[in-house]
Amino acid sequence: MEPWRVLGIESSCDETGVALVECARGVRPRLLAQGLHSQIDMHQAYGGVVPELASRDHIRRVVPLTRQVLRDAGLTLQDLNAVAFTQGPGLAGALLVGAGAAVALAASLGIPALPVHHLEGHLLSPFLSEDPPEFPFVCLLVSGGHTQLMWVRDVGSYELLGETIDDAAGEAFDKSAKLLGLPYPGGPHLSRLAEQGRADAFPLPRPLLHSGDLNFSFAGLKTAVMTQAKRLPIEDASARADLAASTQAAIVEVLVKKSLAALKQTGLKRLVVAGGVGANASLRAQLNEACSRRAVRVHYPELGLCTDNGAMIALAAAMNQEAGRGTPLPPLSTGSFEI
Ligand code: KG4
Ligand code: ZN
Repeated sequence: MEPWRVLGIESSCDETGVALVECARGVRPRLLAQGLHSQIDMHQAYGGVVPELASRDHIRRVVPLTRQVLRDAGLTLQDLNAVAFTQGPGLAGALLVGAGAAVALAASLGIPALPVHHLEGHLLSPFLSEDPPEFPFVCLLVSGGHTQLMWVRDVGSYELLGETIDDAAGEAFDKSAKLLGLPYPGGPHLSRLAEQGRADAFPLPRPLLHSGDLNFSFAGLKTAVMTQAKRLPIEDASARADLAASTQAAIVEVLVKKSLAALKQTGLKRLVVAGGVGANASLRAQLNEACSRRAVRVHYPELGLCTDNGAMIALAAAMNQEAGRGTPLPPLSTGSFEI
């Protein structure tokens, strides 16, 4: 089978990601080139993503990024076999920009447009790493919008084992960071501040730690952080670092314990961590240690592919095609179609 070259377009939130991935049977998928534009600077003044601004910026970025990626890969549009795009979940207007660009490009080239579920992109992203996993595995998917544990049997075979009943782990990081006066998105900032603090300084709750199921809850933690933050003298840098470290420790402990419970429940010996919070150094260190004691292999995406990007979208589309799955929107040149 000829290798597949898929252009992937991600535009679900505040990053415009475009990437080119090559995938062939029996060969590891290869990232040929990628371009990413983060809108963080634009949204920072508002303390969060402004959907209308996000959509408008995706419109500005998507074509130049596509040109850049093709140039970097030394390829032309005619070398593409398909164009993948994030179908959802995400901000409606932002998603429409990526979908519109992908469907128009695919139609003009007479190649399929491949819709991809954003979470499947995250979940499969470690297959682009130096140390790719093998199926089956437990996936801890921790992003700004989702916190899920999944039993992943194969491409397209995903069983939800548990998920958050309120805030996502990334949201807990971001909201706590905001309470500490840190810029948006707070996860990486809180993590850096935590390095200077004591993780046992503040007694914060570990919600649902002993619930006996694989669900998460982070809303109560945020409230506890708010109560503590209100009592802090704003200028007391070491107390703020202590609160950051205590917050991170509470989130990480729940994520680690529930991941171990999912491994025990499924009997699997392989864990994949995906999504933005997967970049957290403390989470990685504690999972590595806990898993090595249990002879469990842990796999992560490359650091740069933890947060949203086009490579994971191109990869998920290519892997689904290889597996004979997915319903591409048919090329326009083969007849009319409705979407
Ligand atoms: O996967 P992602 O890019 O977007 C969604 O699909 O939601 O994840 C973004 C989330 C944000 O909440 C961000 O604060 C968090 O990932 N994040 C981190 C770190 N890097 C990104 N949280 C904790 N520590 C980090 N190093
Ligand atoms: Zn994401």
